[in-house]
Amino acid sequence: MRTETIPEDDMSPAYARKRNTSRRSSGLHERQPAAHDERLLKPRGTVRKAVFPVAGLDTGLLPATKAAPKEMLTVVDKPLIHYAVEEAAAAGIREMIFVTNRNKRAIEDHFDMAYELETTLAQQDRENELRHLRGMFPPDVRYLYVRQSEYTGLGSALRCARPLVGDEPFALILPDELIDSETPAIAQLLKSFYAMHQPVVGVQRREPGDNAFDTLRTGASYRERTHHVVRFARDARSQDDGFVAAGRYVLGPSIFPYLERLPETGAAEVGLHDALQAMLTQEPILAYELSGKRFSCRTKLGLLSATVHFGLKHPELAGPFRELLRNIGPVTPKPIEV
Ligand code: UTP
Repeated sequence: MRTETIPEDDMSPAYARKRNTSRRSSGLHERQPAAHDERLLKPRGTVRKAVFPVAGLDTGLLPATKAAPKEMLTVVDKPLIHYAVEEAAAAGIREMIFVTNRNKRAIEDHFDMAYELETTLAQQDRENELRHLRGMFPPDVRYLYVRQSEYTGLGSALRCARPLVGDEPFALILPDELIDSETPAIAQLLKSFYAMHQPVVGVQRREPGDNAFDTLRTGASYRERTHHVVRFARDARSQDDGFVAAGRYVLGPSIFPYLERLPETGAAEVGLHDALQAMLTQEPILAYELSGKRFSCRTKLGLLSATVHFGLKHPELAGPFRELLRNIGPVTPKPIEV
């Protein structure tokens, strides 16, 4: 297990140089790439890296998230971020890139070696627990961290990951969207990406009570479950085709120039879907209908639903948990405090 952190300060001179270079070469002050340039428009190569933006404010889960990262809240016995990394690792991804901030240090600790714990378990001959702890993730997985110093939006978080992503296609996983599916959600998207070599957004049909606000309008269908994105929107009330973004993306490095063109850090929130909308004018983007049960764990109800769902699937807890739910007597809800 290897971990690396790029401190913001250390990174800034090199990063600034890179950013300036990439801005110049990205077409910020130049013409946009010609739409027929296959080499530019078709991201090629194997997806080896996943980006996990975890530098959000997490207001939807207050007060639980006042000092603790939302991604470290547990669903049964694993934190949300653990499920997300498991999903990426199961899809063959080996470089996990986290965009964090100063309130999210617990995430780094979770993926680091727990030296005291391991030593104690070894001294007490608790072999099973030790094996389980050490075998949680493949040993060749690398964990890399970059800081987002200001809360300036998901697009700006992704911008921070650029030096670590480099010039290759990558997966983007929002850990607060937890998806339970036979084939890991990001593996479903990768299959679509390798078939079409086009950026692809994981979508699902809006379900009653779904409060996702990143909606999409789609057009022609290419293949089964695969549609052409026509427009990205950010509107909870929109009923565009009934599709919502499910927190999973496979993108090429061509997204970065569009992210750079959006408002400067600190000026306004930089939205990923605004950048994707701008990219649509030059490059086709696909929407792939993900199979699986999705839980939006950025809300309390979403987190609670996920807990019940995964509790009822847990190999050891399913039986007693079902029994517990069956035997719950009448409970009077507390009145809403004003
Ligand atoms: P959200 O839009 O859900 O915001 O972020 P949030 O701050 O996490 O949560 P609320 O709305 O206050 O409850 C979507 C994803 O983008 C990341 C979040 O961590 C989440 O994974 N994000 C958002 C960042 O990494 N940086 C940001 O500046 C904003």
